[in-house]
Amino acid sequence: MHIHVLGSAAGGGFPQWNCHCHNCKGLREGSIKARARTQSSICISPDGENWVLFNTSPDILAQLAAFPSLQPSRQLRDTAISAIVFMDSQIDHTTGLLMLREGCPHQVYCTDMVYEDLTSGFPVFNMLKHWNGGIQRHPIPINENTESFSIEQMPSLKFTALPLLSKAPPYSPHRHNPYPGDNIGIQIEDTRTGKTVFYAPGLGQIEPHIVDVMQQSDCLLVDGTFWREDEMVWAGVGTKTAAAMGHLPQSGPEGMLALLSRLPKEQRQILIHINNTNPILNEDSAERAEVEALGIEVAFDGMDITL
Ligand code: MLT
Ligand code: MN
Ligand code: ZN
Repeated sequence: MHIHVLGSAAGGGFPQWNCHCHNCKGLREGSIKARARTQSSICISPDGENWVLFNTSPDILAQLAAFPSLQPSRQLRDTAISAIVFMDSQIDHTTGLLMLREGCPHQVYCTDMVYEDLTSGFPVFNMLKHWNGGIQRHPIPINENTESFSIEQMPSLKFTALPLLSKAPPYSPHRHNPYPGDNIGIQIEDTRTGKTVFYAPGLGQIEPHIVDVMQQSDCLLVDGTFWREDEMVWAGVGTKTAAAMGHLPQSGPEGMLALLSRLPKEQRQILIHINNTNPILNEDSAERAEVEALGIEVAFDGMDITL
């Protein structure tokens, strides 16, 4: 299967339009070695022709322009996006759906909780009804048996969603009342080869069922948002902790790096959804060197992975 990283940054992108933190300023001024990144999205294809889009970033139009495989011109109006899967209902993961209105109806896969948010607190699904009926929604099952689901145009891929302890967005009607399905991670298996990738751009806590799936995956694309728990405060740009935003930081004895270093050495481990404050974006930083010394990769826009 083919995996393409459309956007590797967290909400706000890198550099963020109004941010003059060490990284954002440094990138603009050319005083640090780093590359710009758009907001969080990947796409996956079994054949290079039909693609499933994971999340629709506010930067979707630039991402499409940068990846011609998603824009075949087989007819006057055409797209290679066969389906769209949402990992949660955050702005950086869903707003781009409005930019895809000309292609409605889209086949959209999401949990009941995400469906609720996107028809109430952030009602993009309701709005889009005015464009050729809007979306055709397919429920993503979330249950203890981790039932799998498939997508019609790509029967060789098997999708398994796992509930994650993270956070529903601030505009969610149940922001302070978490439910399974607010945030998910997904394992995608190519049943022709048995190869698996696990994608979880927002992973707040190390839960046993997640560790099991991570252990059994050939490739991980996981939460790289923050290096530190208090990063927003440390960078002087905010007050929320990583935990309050539903993200597990990389550093520390219980952090993402400690977890990854306990997992199989053969698997590819990639950090994605990286916030603009994160020192790993600076390619000359000690933090980046620490990540690389562990064999962990830092996702970038345009990254291609074949499994
Ligand atoms: C997050 O994942 O926490 C979001 O990127 C935050 C945001 O976009 O406001
Ligand atoms: Mn995000
Ligand atoms: Zn910044």
